[in-house]
Amino acid sequence: MERLTDRRILVTGAASGIGRATVLRLLAEGARVAAADVSDDGLKETEALAGSDRITTHRVDVSDEASAAGAVSAAAAEFGGLDALVNAAGILRGAHTHECSLELWNRVIGVNLTGTFLMTRAALPHLLESGSGVVVNFSSTSAFFAHPFMAAYSASKGGVASFTHSLAQEYGKRGLRAVNMVPGGISSGITDNIGDLMPADTDWELLLKLSPALPGGIPGPEKVAGVVAMLVSDDAAFITGTEIRVDGGAHQ
Ligand SMILES: NC(=O)c1ccc[n+]([C@@H]2O[C@H](COP(=O)([O-])OP(=O)(O)OC[C@H]3O[C@@H](n4cnc5c(N)ncnc54)[C@H](O)[C@@H]3O)[C@@H](O)[C@H]2O)c1
Repeated sequence: MERLTDRRILVTGAASGIGRATVLRLLAEGARVAAADVSDDGLKETEALAGSDRITTHRVDVSDEASAAGAVSAAAAEFGGLDALVNAAGILRGAHTHECSLELWNRVIGVNLTGTFLMTRAALPHLLESGSGVVVNFSSTSAFFAHPFMAAYSASKGGVASFTHSLAQEYGKRGLRAVNMVPGGISSGITDNIGDLMPADTDWELLLKLSPALPGGIPGPEKVAGVVAMLVSDDAAFITGTEIRVDGGAHQ
């Protein structure tokens, strides 16, 4: 089934984890994909894995206004417009909240929340022109359920969720859909290195409470990519202004 044939989709965070898996899945379903990330090496690997002439790659720092605008206009120029934007770029930095520096706080908010805003703002004119544009933003279960040592991250993802609801309401009459992906623990660059991203004396018992209810442990990023492919397709034509949680029942 190629339900995304000729759809023009920009994916950030495309050099690793969920963003990369999403790029590969969208290509497999027939889309043209602009893969964007701050990591040149990771983008090269994604391009090699894709082995497709329907992928273009774009270096972007989503937290930088000019860089975000430049990546969106390059992708739109390449494809002659945009039908969907998937904001998967993100970072996790953990800290005890009383020790969280302003620098850490600003960096996490700057990439996860401000980056989502900057990419979306730049893409909106193209998505509205398409008549049935879609924005898929990456929130997290940390926005809705207690995740210790992640105050900055959780706050950024709560902000993303609220931002997405505003978009869905503001532009719904113009055909735009906006949806929050809400993953739980998924194997990726973030989770595979979580030991390095958390404080040295982390209480892992607290974090392990977030394990999936389903068997098999933490799944691969393709579990999320398939849902993103559905959300940018016409199968999700009546889904907007909501959260889609993919966590194997870790938060019930
Ligand atoms: N993996 C999980 O368990 C999980 C759970 C909930 C939400 N998420 C969210 O899913 C999204 C994808 O993350 P992932 O888990 O695949 O992690 P990942 O580390 O594998 O991928 C994140 C990608 O974002 C890129 N990136 C970081 N800062 C950037 C910047 N300033 N500009 C452009 N690109 C930048 C990185 O280079 C990397 O390629 C993130 O928004 C993350 O917060 C992940």
